[in-house]
Amino acid sequence: KAKVKTAYFCSNCGYEAPKWLGKCPSCQQWNTFAEEVIEKTTKSRFASGDAVAAGSSFRKTAQKAVTLKDIQVQQEKRFDAQDTELNRVLGGGIVPGSLVLIGGEPGIGKSTLMLQVALKLIALKVLYVSGEESAQQIKMRADRLHNKNNNLFVLTETDLDKVFNQVKEIQPEVLVIDSIQTLGSSLIDSAPGSISQVKDCTGELMRFAKETNTPTFIIGHINKDGNIAGPKVLEHMVDTVLQFEGDRHLSYRILRTIKNRFGSTSELGIYEMRNDGLREVNNPSEVLISQREEELSGVAIGATLEGNRPLLIETQALASPSTYGTPQRATTGFDNKRLQMLIAVLEKRGGYRLSMRDVFLNIAGGVKVQDPALDLAVAASMVSSFEEIAIPPHICFAAEIGLGGEIRAVTHVESRIAEAEKMGFSTIYVSKFGLKGIDFKKYGIQIRAFGKLEDIFQDLF
Ligand code: TYD
Ligand code: MG
Repeated sequence: KAKVKTAYFCSNCGYEAPKWLGKCPSCQQWNTFAEEVIEKTTKSRFASGDAVAAGSSFRKTAQKAVTLKDIQVQQEKRFDAQDTELNRVLGGGIVPGSLVLIGGEPGIGKSTLMLQVALKLIALKVLYVSGEESAQQIKMRADRLHNKNNNLFVLTETDLDKVFNQVKEIQPEVLVIDSIQTLGSSLIDSAPGSISQVKDCTGELMRFAKETNTPTFIIGHINKDGNIAGPKVLEHMVDTVLQFEGDRHLSYRILRTIKNRFGSTSELGIYEMRNDGLREVNNPSEVLISQREEELSGVAIGATLEGNRPLLIETQALASPSTYGTPQRATTGFDNKRLQMLIAVLEKRGGYRLSMRDVFLNIAGGVKVQDPALDLAVAASMVSSFEEIAIPPHICFAAEIGLGGEIRAVTHVESRIAEAEKMGFSTIYVSKFGLKGIDFKKYGIQIRAFGKLEDIFQDLF
């Protein structure tokens, strides 16, 4: 009887080696190799017709080299995903034959999103394969989502070969796999979710997508380190990687493009998780600014940019007298070190005695912001709380602050100004640098440009 075939895989990047290694030559991590049983056949599991006996089934004829000028570029046709946010992150719709990976932590809403999209694609034949839930559970979820689509095919299966049998029978125009970690092929001996299985199944699905020109979505769970569970190699194999993220206790979800062979990677989609599914949030600034009746101190609005998308975000600060020797600093959604730095600048350059205060900072809506343009709003909210003077609600900010208290220019200042104007703000504070070539008269919003922090606060308070 033949010996069982095994190989060693790096659990970080999926690198395959015939023997155990201490350090991965691909990702340089130590102690990441684990042995897995494999039983590889060279045959492709997805064979269209009987043209294929062995080897990869696509590319039936040998390719000839051609000059660049002889290559015809066809404008690739895209399907409308019937979802503006998904269309946006995909770069303008679903590309035929593309393999799209949707990653996210368990419970974030990946299944909900894909089922919802599958239901909305009413004009297409969609096959939704689930290894996670029973058909009844999927039906119940679909009922909650209100979108009626009686033509959606549902298959609960974890064996890839059986999935492909059904695919051949149904011939779907769109395929959804939920999730790649539950899928396994009987031709490989290791358990579903292991690196060799995940890698191999993804390879087969890629072949299927390209050969039949069927757009295929695969859902993948992300582990605690934020990697698509196990192999990073998955990310290299697929055309597009989307990441679904957000705080499970809050309702906003962000769908971010990590990689895209067919479009930009700085796109962002925003959803709200409701009882009846995910609602597209086409105007995010509206939801990230809380509604209030009276003016509060400690609140400032920053005009930030997430990807290419301008977003007006509310920051709230509370600077209260400290009861202990060491004052506390706590933030949600903003970098703690950055906060410490801003506090030090305010103390040194503005004379605000924040070292005697506990400072709490909160970014509304549970979003995490890395854009340095939020600096000025954060500083303004702290000073507003310190002075107990509310900032009028029609004012917003977009500038970075340097260690010397200088107000620095930020990228794409014009799209921030335009968004602020669109959202009904009457005044925006920006850096006086980097405004060359901007036609102020074009805007209905007042642009107040400064070079120093002190001058802004003199103007404001
Ligand atoms: P799910 O799509 O199952 O997450 P994932 O596939 O990423 O693991 O979504 C899980 C959460 O979403 C669950 O806690 C319930 C919630 N949810 C809603 O709030 N509204 C809904 O309409 C649905 C279907 C789910
Ligand atoms: Mg799920």
